[in-house]
Amino acid sequence: METINHAKSILTFAITNPLSFVYLIIQQILNWIFAPAPPPPSEKLRRPRIAVIGAGLTGVSSAAHCVGHGFDVKIFEARSKEKGLGGIWSRVNSTSALQIHSIMFRFHPSVKWDTAYPTQENIKEQIASVWKLYGLDKKTVFDTPITSVKKNSSGRWIINDNEAEYGTFDGIIAAVGSCGDPQMPHLPDHEKFSGPTFHSSELDGKDVKGKKVLIIGGGASAVEALEFAVSNDAAEIDVLSRSDKWIIPRNVFVDVLLSLNIFGGETSFSWIPEWFLRKFFYRDLQDISPSKKGLYTDTPMVNSELFNQIRAGKARWLRGDILACKEEGILFNHRAQGVPKGGPGHESVVNGDVIIMATGYKRPSLSFLPDNVFEEKYEPPNWYLQVFPPQDPTICATNSTYLNAIGTVGNYHIGIYTRFLLMFLVDPLTRPREGLMKLWIDFTRVVKRFAPTGAFDFFTYAELIYWYCFVSIINPFRWKWVPFIFFGLFPGLPLAIVEEEDRFRPNGKAK
Ligand SMILES: Cc1cc2nc3c(=O)[nH]c(=O)nc-3n(C[C@H](O)[C@H](O)[C@H](O)COP(=O)(O)OP(=O)(O)OC[C@H]3O[C@@H](n4cnc5c(N)ncnc54)[C@H](O)[C@@H]3O)c2cc1C
Ligand SMILES: NC(=O)c1ccc[n+]([C@@H]2O[C@H](COP(=O)([O-])OP(=O)(O)OC[C@H]3O[C@@H](n4cnc5c(N)ncnc54)[C@H](OP(=O)(O)O)[C@@H]3O)[C@@H](O)[C@H]2O)c1
Repeated sequence: METINHAKSILTFAITNPLSFVYLIIQQILNWIFAPAPPPPSEKLRRPRIAVIGAGLTGVSSAAHCVGHGFDVKIFEARSKEKGLGGIWSRVNSTSALQIHSIMFRFHPSVKWDTAYPTQENIKEQIASVWKLYGLDKKTVFDTPITSVKKNSSGRWIINDNEAEYGTFDGIIAAVGSCGDPQMPHLPDHEKFSGPTFHSSELDGKDVKGKKVLIIGGGASAVEALEFAVSNDAAEIDVLSRSDKWIIPRNVFVDVLLSLNIFGGETSFSWIPEWFLRKFFYRDLQDISPSKKGLYTDTPMVNSELFNQIRAGKARWLRGDILACKEEGILFNHRAQGVPKGGPGHESVVNGDVIIMATGYKRPSLSFLPDNVFEEKYEPPNWYLQVFPPQDPTICATNSTYLNAIGTVGNYHIGIYTRFLLMFLVDPLTRPREGLMKLWIDFTRVVKRFAPTGAFDFFTYAELIYWYCFVSIINPFRWKWVPFIFFGLFPGLPLAIVEEEDRFRPNGKAK
């Protein structure tokens, strides 16, 4: 009876949501092919043993890949389980949602999205379910901020100087993310403003009905705050933005197309997508588009609703500088398109009852890593493949060195980076040497010498994939690992070869 009811509910779902049903089937197939099987609870996992720092989606996914391939891990999370498991997604509003399509946010092959743009709750649930599925609940310590990572005399990593409690590790995955505590800059004369001020990540339960809302900032959080204010029937909404960012449509085909620029920066053809965006997306609102900043220099915002809200008169997007807070609002210097920050404009007081600071987040520190990995000219993000410091490729800082990109933080690359690290650890012949890693970094700088940003300050997803292909092909000892690096498949063959090679190594085993 239960089976029949279950079959009926699947059938009803398939009929009422045919697209979601097909999407779920595709994801189920990806899961079968690419998700490594979780280890049985009794299985003793082998070395190399990896310390994963951070229990956000990057840390959880990386750890799941490690244990899925039979390698032991321990996850260290600074915050409590409630605020730490799921990382930043555990600390933002319940109304937050993914801006890009969830097909570009499959942070682990076992993830199953039932909607195109999942909300904060769905995302948190998926992170927690990967964590449980791979038995990582038994391998995570919460309330444990990592302050030091050092090598002992036998070359193994020790965490927080506490070998007795945590043991030793062969590799480190620093998955601390790029969004730490809320950033609340002090506005000039802020204390004179008579109303409340909230950070954009703390809007749950706040009431702005009938109020004039002032949103400070011009990034993705400002757009989310604007949507929050619209849905809460605010009387007036003004976004006060001091710098321009590109906005691209919430359309998976357009977003994928834009990320296919393999040069990972501005080219002489960049005017083409910019022209199309202005003509067919911004249309009457071209004044908001950046006039002096190329599309391939900064992370764009992904949103299709914003312009409708502005056109419907529900919100205004104002460019300029905050001069001072007044009791009734903010004294603002309105700048015309193209006039830089602090440039000339005209001043007026923009009235408001509530200020929402969409001013971003503090960047979590990587300073627990050894000092030598912060060498001048080769400091993050100028690392091998952006995440491996050339001084020590047993450290992998996935998503923690990220600055700007057209791509996504929660996607296939998390698995690829984890498998590169595992390959470097188990197979010494594939491990890159410091000089060659620096050569690759310098080579990438030469290739991107005309980019207006630093070579690693902006990249596209296509460029990332090209990096992986390049470094896999350049070293013949890595060829046997290619199906494993890219898809997590067939590690048995290269492992068997490495075991044979171990017999000829002076000290026996590789690690
Ligand atoms: C509202 C919002 C929406 C977003 N939407 C998108 C989107 O659509 N697409 C996209 O690609 N990205 C998006 N992002 C960016 C977001 O950063 C990523 O989606 C993703 O959550 C990053 O995951 P992470 O695991 O790398 O980092 P986090 O989720 O930040 O997790 C890092 C964890 O490391 C822990 N940690 C930090 N330092 C230490 C330490 N020293 N010791 C121990 N633990 C430590 C932190 O406590 C935290 O739990 C969004 C961000 C926000 C705020
Ligand atoms: N749903 C989503 O996808 C979503 C939602 C929210 C956030 N995110 C992600 O989370 C990260 C953070 O985004 P965010 O929007 O919170 O932060 P952000 O991108 O860093 O933007 C912060 C904004 O605040 C402005 N600002 C900072 N200090 C200011 C000050 N003192 N006075 C006036 N303006 C000030 C900044 O201007 P300057 O640029 O001039 O410094 C910038 O416009 C990004 O990676 C973003 O993609 C994603």
